[in-house]
Amino acid sequence: MKFGYFDDPNKEYVITSYKTPYPWINYLGNKDFFSIISNTAGGYSFFRDARLRRLTRFRYNNVPLDDGGKYFYINDNGSVWSPGWKPVKAEVENYSCRHGMGYTVIGSEKDNLRAEVLYFVPVGDTCEVQRVSLRNTGKLPKRFRLFSFVEWCLWNANDDMTNFQRNFSTGEVEIENGVMYHKTEYRERRNHYAFYSVNTPVKGFDTDREAFLGIYNGFDHPDAVFSGNPGNTVAHGWSPVASHCVEIDLEPGEEKNLVFVLGYIENPEKEKFIAPKVINKERAKTMIARYDNNYKVEIAFRELKEYWDRQLSVIKLDHPDPRLSRMVNIWNPYQCMVTYNMSRSASYFESGIGRGMGFRDSNQDLAGYVQMIAPQAKKRIIDIASTQLADGSAYHQYQPLTKRGNAEIGGNFNDDPLWLIFGVATYIKETGDWSLLDERVPFDNNPDNAASLFEHLRLSFMHVVNNLGPHKLPLIGRADWNDCLNLNCFSSNPDESFQTTENQKGGVAESVFIAAMFVLYGADFVKMALKRDETGLAAEAQKHIDEMVEAVKNHGWDGNWFLRAYDYYGKKVGSRECEEGKIFIETQGMCIMAGLGLDDDKALEALASVNKYLACDYGIVLNNPAFTKYYLNLGEISSYPEGYKENAGVFCHNNPWVIIAETLTGNGHRAYDYYSRITPSYLEEISELHKTEPYVYSQMIAGKDAFTPGEAKNSWLTGAAAWCMYAVTQYILGVRPDYEGLMIDPCIPHEWNGFTVTRKFRGAVYRIEFLNPVHRTKGSWEITVDGKRLESNILPLFPEGTEHNVKVII
Ligand code: GLC
Ligand code: GLC
Repeated sequence: MKFGYFDDPNKEYVITSYKTPYPWINYLGNKDFFSIISNTAGGYSFFRDARLRRLTRFRYNNVPLDDGGKYFYINDNGSVWSPGWKPVKAEVENYSCRHGMGYTVIGSEKDNLRAEVLYFVPVGDTCEVQRVSLRNTGKLPKRFRLFSFVEWCLWNANDDMTNFQRNFSTGEVEIENGVMYHKTEYRERRNHYAFYSVNTPVKGFDTDREAFLGIYNGFDHPDAVFSGNPGNTVAHGWSPVASHCVEIDLEPGEEKNLVFVLGYIENPEKEKFIAPKVINKERAKTMIARYDNNYKVEIAFRELKEYWDRQLSVIKLDHPDPRLSRMVNIWNPYQCMVTYNMSRSASYFESGIGRGMGFRDSNQDLAGYVQMIAPQAKKRIIDIASTQLADGSAYHQYQPLTKRGNAEIGGNFNDDPLWLIFGVATYIKETGDWSLLDERVPFDNNPDNAASLFEHLRLSFMHVVNNLGPHKLPLIGRADWNDCLNLNCFSSNPDESFQTTENQKGGVAESVFIAAMFVLYGADFVKMALKRDETGLAAEAQKHIDEMVEAVKNHGWDGNWFLRAYDYYGKKVGSRECEEGKIFIETQGMCIMAGLGLDDDKALEALASVNKYLACDYGIVLNNPAFTKYYLNLGEISSYPEGYKENAGVFCHNNPWVIIAETLTGNGHRAYDYYSRITPSYLEEISELHKTEPYVYSQMIAGKDAFTPGEAKNSWLTGAAAWCMYAVTQYILGVRPDYEGLMIDPCIPHEWNGFTVTRKFRGAVYRIEFLNPVHRTKGSWEITVDGKRLESNILPLFPEGTEHNVKVII
């Protein structure tokens, strides 16, 4: 069952039924000011950091779900309703929510009145603009009252929902000309405030929540709205809110637009006040003036659209299947940009107060957006590398505001350092900018201890070499990519976290997954060393890689698939010898990506095993059989009920590794089949089961052993976004940035007749037409560039701004 439809020309998903199986959200903002907004106008805003600068309040896991947001209420002669259905939940007609690129439009009709709200954050500004359009669709004149509503958060989101003994006394506001200013803690160490304005005179306002709602009412029944009369209240402590009341007259057919601005302002220390207790509002007034009529809003909105058109112009696919084209052209890169901005911090599943930026996550996210924002990717790499320690190890996370490693979480996740090589390699392949390797980058943010980024990569590489176990495979440390495979942990205390608990001493658990990563990204390190004429180093590195290949050959194969790991006692994990969890997905994907098993039939065998034991209707599960009980020696993985999360859920992040592996062995049919099982646009028809948005990937879809197979959770902030983008564009469609140029290497279902990819790459535009006249899936091809036959499959580099026609006959 569908709850809306894709509007591809407008790059929107249009939700037509407000009772979606879960709130379906969008993100506004692309630099400093961000909002999350659901299809019924739930959500919140923050400045840069969802934990420390939360502007409006949101209650996670609340009852009812998704209560609290940017609400509008209409009191039309006693008939009270909201354009987004919530919070009032009165019956409305012609409801729609258009989630677009950085904006959302929510509207509906009742009693011959159409009300529609456009929400967006203008490019480069620190505010959210809300344009309310009201149209009288009837034959009689109308007079009604419109109420706006936001609830302020007292900045620190964690403190805001725990420290009530203080917070109920600190709230402060100011009201001037209908603009409500939220200035809690401005008197002390904060030099920032927020405001909420409207570009028309108000009938009244409220800033005291209790007065506005009534102490025992929910957002669905505010006393002020139902009585039609604002209280003109000034909040002192408790919970400050901001609500305007505007009276509106509309002739039949007439439409009016009102502009509300929710803004964030910082003042220099010396300019905080203009009189005792009176805050300096200059900057707010200038901001309000930027959007004080509909024309200015239109211009800002157009600028936002142009911004997104530009971002999304790098890769353009023309393919007969719209489900594929809209993912490649619109939603997948859009989601990748959101992971760039949010990492894993704020979504409807991430509370915005928990995780910092992950070392491994951030390096992988890069692969999804580097083609759109290479300079930002470069900065991100340097930020990440600056938290690396001098022995090559890494903090698992760092804080986005301070950019320092997070000592609470610590390090010792031994795959982390290798992801830095992947991140850097991905950046260089896209841009050709080798100078990145020469950047001087500190260790642990200490400017007195710095080295070239290349040296950081050498230390990453050597960190594996220096931490090998009894089978000459890499020691796993706390965990590798699979955060929940805690082989040295042995936690029997429910009060400690699997992620931080002290590991048992003397642990020699080894990871075949890290071994494969080492072979794969080690090859990139060797290339970089050679490029720098460090031939000795390159040869030494190659020797270590060759030894690792041997170690995997000798100790990493289980007969029909790759082993996953060795545990604390040296016993096999992910082996037919195991009672449960006999086979794991990660090593099947990563080993084959590293080329392991391609020279004998092991890769094919491993992939056949994946197909037999792990693939299900909803994707490829992480392990099989699922763990039915808790294993002290395996840790958190077995803490999850069967079929969920890392215990045999479809953990979408790793599915693309198998998809890539399938393309490397030439099975285009299976590669595409697996892709379509997890890709949201293909799941639109089963939205009632899938539950999460049909336009973005979710971290996890419940697997075949679950109680609810096919039900997804944790949408938006997942490594699945980057890896799916990478897999589909580079390995299925086969347009793959490489060090020397753009490599052409498609692997597709044989039924496909052809498709076209237009790719901006290092300044030039390549219009690449793929033709598949004899219905192959992969193999040799004939490539012409501007009519001339090309001998290799690497497209040459061309001058900035030139356009070239490429024809590929498969
Ligand atoms: C989460 C984490 C990621 C980890 C994965 C598997 O997505 O963010 O770092 O690799 O889970 O456990
Ligand atoms: C839990 C999750 C895992 C995530 C980790 C991050 O273990 O299962 O996916 O990576 O938390 O802290």
